[in-house]
Amino acid sequence: MDTTPHPLWWQTGVIYQIYPRSFQDSNGDGVGDLTGVIQRLDYLSSTLGVDAIWLSPFFPSPQADWGYDVANYTDVDPLFGDLTTFDQLLAEAHRRGIRVIIDWVPNHTSDQHPWFIESRSSRNNPKRDWYIWRDARAGGLPNNWLSLFGGPAWEWDENTGQYYMHSFLKEQPDLSWRNPEVKAAMFDVARFWLERGVDGFRIDVAHFIMKDPELRDNPLNPKRADTAYKPLGAYDTQIHLHDKGHPDGHAIWREFRALLDAYSAGQPRYCVGEIHIFDWREWGSYYGANLDELHMPFNFALLFAPWQAASIRKTVDDLEAALPRGAWPNYVLGNHDEPRLASRVGRDNARLAAMLLLTLRGTPTLYYGDEIGMTNVSIPPGRQRDPFGLCVPGQGRDPCRTPMQWSDAPNAGFAPPHATECWLPLSPDYREINVECQLAEPTSFLNLYRRLLACRKSTPALQWGSYHPLGGAAKDCYVYLRQAKNQRILVALNFSEQEQSLDLSTFGHGRIRASTCMDREGQSNLAPLVLRPDEGVMVECASNREVIS
Ligand code: NOJ
Repeated sequence: MDTTPHPLWWQTGVIYQIYPRSFQDSNGDGVGDLTGVIQRLDYLSSTLGVDAIWLSPFFPSPQADWGYDVANYTDVDPLFGDLTTFDQLLAEAHRRGIRVIIDWVPNHTSDQHPWFIESRSSRNNPKRDWYIWRDARAGGLPNNWLSLFGGPAWEWDENTGQYYMHSFLKEQPDLSWRNPEVKAAMFDVARFWLERGVDGFRIDVAHFIMKDPELRDNPLNPKRADTAYKPLGAYDTQIHLHDKGHPDGHAIWREFRALLDAYSAGQPRYCVGEIHIFDWREWGSYYGANLDELHMPFNFALLFAPWQAASIRKTVDDLEAALPRGAWPNYVLGNHDEPRLASRVGRDNARLAAMLLLTLRGTPTLYYGDEIGMTNVSIPPGRQRDPFGLCVPGQGRDPCRTPMQWSDAPNAGFAPPHATECWLPLSPDYREINVECQLAEPTSFLNLYRRLLACRKSTPALQWGSYHPLGGAAKDCYVYLRQAKNQRILVALNFSEQEQSLDLSTFGHGRIRASTCMDREGQSNLAPLVLRPDEGVMVECASNREVIS
């Protein structure tokens, strides 16, 4: 009897996030585009070896929040191309075996979306209730809710004499998901892209869509209790009990999942929700009581865990322990909202982080440029573009969104040499840190990622095997075993700047499959296994030993 599990592409695969503005500019306007993505598909499939791409928004938008303010969900902004280019991208990606995930932004539209233009045109407009409109309360704001991007979550509309609600910019009014017409319209949007053949969706702020039906005030958070999340300025003065995360959201996600499942017969579709919740039970509830909601809520915990062996291990073990039965884990080390990995943990540790991400149990999502160790770029004041950073000093996300560094050519190969100024400045280090240079250097970041991705692809224990943390390792090391049937992979990560000697003699001999230093592979004695400072190794153990069950 075949007892091999048959995991789906989104479980075994590695997802690569593309921020389209910054990936590849094909026409020299200084902004990346979909044709640019097509030009780089061979890099993604053959050179790097990822299995799926997630494209951040490319829909028509006034770009107040760089595309997360959508003015038309079923088209492509001319900046990025058109629907024909998108179809071509999809076909070319599929031809190379790459799945395509797109962003679906259900919580809010642009204030330039025709739905909102209608909604704000009069109190009697049929689309009035597609958004959250309220009268003033005692001459002031309807309640105490705050925008995550600063200031109140309410904007006064002079014309109709009411406030509308916005969780982010005032140019991003929140849709009213309690209105079935909104749900129907947004589900139609999903159908539009599923019919075109997309493989799935990344759902923007999935936990925001349902608010308290009575719009009650949030309780104050006078102590600004630790949130296990990054500080968000004035937003942290409240406990966000009523302005997001209402349990009624789960019914929507069940319906959405049923919609995806209906399209999944020949082509399994997938969704991952952006969920910033750090209470594991609540976070896990988004898988659904019967695993019938999101395929995965994004797990951002490693972005905020202190970079030490014990805390990283605890983060992983807590997640493993809290996962609903049968739910599939996932890990993220970078995205377009967070400081760059190599800047957060340092370049040497970023190599260790690569091994961690690509050897844990669950789906890894990589952020473009992390595979070459791109760092945060300091943006001169006149060139800052992120509205979050402009509204709330210190929160700017531009530093992690700079153009991809392909080569040492003018414009880093991101844009043609004659291009107009790139939308964000290039990193000053692009002449040394770029794809072309790193391909030529055997031990580069990029070659490490390629090696790790290739190992993962050819190793069932890494793709779908179990995870067992090993106790007794040196305090600065994190050691775990991944096992599928009789294949066993030991991963040993040294988080310290000292050499560490690990007694792994119970595993006998092993074959080193990869080291973050990229200078040793092959047979190795495990009594002891010596790790150099910041080194991680992946060892395939002899298979005839006792198997941990
Ligand atoms: C989350 C997105 O990741 C972020 O970039 C955006 O600003 C907000 N949602 C608002 O859409």
